[in-house]
Amino acid sequence: MTYVGIDKLCFYTSNFYLDLKELAKARNQEVDKFYVGLGQEQMSIHPPDEDVITLAANAAWLAIQDIDPNDISMILFATESGLDFSKSCGVYIQHLLGLPKTCRILEVKQACYSGAGALMLAMPYLQQNPTKKVLLITSDIARYGLNTPGEPTQGCGSAAMLLSANPKLIAIEPESGYYSDHTWDFWRPNYSKDAIVDGKYSTRVYLTTLQECWKEYQKNSHREYSDHTRFCYHLPFTKMAEKAHERLRRTCGVDQITDSLISDSLEYSRRVGNSYTASLFIGLASILDHAQNDISGQRIGFFSYGSGCVAEFFSGIVQKDYKNHLTTLYHKNLLDQRKELSITEYEEFFNHALPETGVEYATPRYTTGKFRLAGVKDHTRQYEKMF
Ligand code: CAA
Repeated sequence: MTYVGIDKLCFYTSNFYLDLKELAKARNQEVDKFYVGLGQEQMSIHPPDEDVITLAANAAWLAIQDIDPNDISMILFATESGLDFSKSCGVYIQHLLGLPKTCRILEVKQACYSGAGALMLAMPYLQQNPTKKVLLITSDIARYGLNTPGEPTQGCGSAAMLLSANPKLIAIEPESGYYSDHTWDFWRPNYSKDAIVDGKYSTRVYLTTLQECWKEYQKNSHREYSDHTRFCYHLPFTKMAEKAHERLRRTCGVDQITDSLISDSLEYSRRVGNSYTASLFIGLASILDHAQNDISGQRIGFFSYGSGCVAEFFSGIVQKDYKNHLTTLYHKNLLDQRKELSITEYEEFFNHALPETGVEYATPRYTTGKFRLAGVKDHTRQYEKMF
């Protein structure tokens, strides 16, 4: 059997962040509610000239550095921060990165789940086309509104993955367990910039679907909890993964809490915040970049949850030379070099809006990334390469 999976994984986030200490002060909350109760310390905030396309272009640019771009035959763009009802964000990426025109391009949506869903759909394609590569991009801006309970769980980021046969990082195993239901835990109507969320209910649905998916996964794979050495959960905030892991452990009747099974996966998200579709894969990058020992040959269990809701539990095996194909230093520098915003600056960024009349507009320059949203002209978004 040909192994298929993730050959390269790179993430990108905004150059700006808000420390949740400052948010706690401004909203009259205890810092520990955010730092300990939610397990979040910072959140990336996108400036006016950054959107899901520029985040994605930066992540994807890095992901394709070592390959012949002509091998890419499909671009899948997973987001719940889509910019157009018709044109997919992936077409912009093809243009900005000069990717081949002989490419199938689609945008996929089902809340935070669509990245994992697209990954699973790409696997049989690569089995049948083992010389091709798929560029899977997850990119999102999590936005709940000022002074809402969801405010400390915002953030933004993009994870770009090259998927291929004989992958260098993770071989995805074919058995998985998925579950879906019609729930109103989190959604964003077309007329709203901010998500509508029943926060507490959403955390309960997350945990219930985890149990349902695990049941299906076990039935299909015949694997036990102990067959996995790491777990990587969708990360709306890092405490959610801790609650999820605790639930799984109890479901499986495992007594001892072994924090190290998830702790590496939380490092980046604690600083980036929620990035919806990207957060599971930023969690994976965090494991690969932070694992102390060589974890090749080990099995990671993944849980993806998308409100509304669709969820899936699947697994992957870390490949032999994975350490030689990481971009750890880039990821760490990216986070360390971000500029901290004051509350006033954060609120200014949050309230900035592009004109909706299509009138010509130039966005102020903030990002230090390779791509920026330069503005709007005749109802078309204009992007600039900065290199
Ligand atoms: N020290 C330590 N802990 C403290 C504390 C303090 N001083 N004060 C409060 N806490 C704890 C609370 O006990 C609570 O912990 P538990 O959940 O373990 O009881 C935690 O901090 C949070 O406090 P609250 O429950 O009072 O917080 P809240 O009601 O204001 O908001 C939230 C929490 C509902 C998660 C809210 O942030 C929210 O709505 N977020 C967006 C929705 C979301 O992320 N849902 C996750 C599942 S849905 C999903 O995964 C898809 C997705 O990406 C959106």
